[in-house]
Amino acid sequence: MWKLGVNVDHVATLNQARYRGVPHGEPSPVEAAECCIQSGAEGITAHLREDRRHIQDADVFAIRQAIRAPLNFEMANTDEMIGIALKLQPAWICVVPEKREELTTEGGLDVLGQRESLRSMITQMRNAGIRVSLFVDPELAVVEASSAIQADAVELHTGAFAECWHESDEALRSKAIDKETERLITAAEKAFELGLIVNAGHGLTVENIPQLKKVPRLNELNIGHSLISRAVMVGLPQSVKDFLHVMEGYDPNP
Ligand code: PXP
Repeated sequence: MWKLGVNVDHVATLNQARYRGVPHGEPSPVEAAECCIQSGAEGITAHLREDRRHIQDADVFAIRQAIRAPLNFEMANTDEMIGIALKLQPAWICVVPEKREELTTEGGLDVLGQRESLRSMITQMRNAGIRVSLFVDPELAVVEASSAIQADAVELHTGAFAECWHESDEALRSKAIDKETERLITAAEKAFELGLIVNAGHGLTVENIPQLKKVPRLNELNIGHSLISRAVMVGLPQSVKDFLHVMEGYDPNP
């Protein structure tokens, strides 16, 4: 069975569209997080970006207090974010690359290039009792490097996999889906063999999740934009339930 982690960043996006710079407003990322947990999600993810474009500092601390479920604090590997994580004490951090100009997290972490600074950050987190996941492209060398620097988990970036559904030519689409699924399978098997917990996320929808069931060893799916977008039409509890429904029947050890 898969666990569902809901990323509530885009609840905060809507809040900030009207209430930037003031400590009130709607919708509340905290209430959304509680609602997701009550509706069956197993964890909550929130990404405090350097530019604070969606989730705010107060939101992550309030979510941490409010929910009786693991908080996965998504963050860049910077001194500022390390300081906040150590105060926040989430169950998990997920380290992501961050560029100011990107719309969303566009690629996986450069684990090979930042090996030493990631290793020292992981040691700091481990000493504080916080587990560390690295958001990585599904590539063997990156998975191996993540294990070598003692990460607890990798979250495989499913962005390229999800992009395939936007190819209009059916033959090309099907070929691309097969290729990206294979990449994920190979990376997931390697990560599992190395003793890492294997999660996946980015761009996941009710349309592409059935195909992802072909990828073994996955523990948790982290889903944000599509689940929150669907909630506009059907309500948040129903959207969580729709995703849980499509996630049913997954076998991590086929
Ligand atoms: N996992 C990570 C590490 C992410 O950076 C994001 C996007 O913020 C997600 C999952 C969720 O992606 P999406 O919003 O496309 O579902």
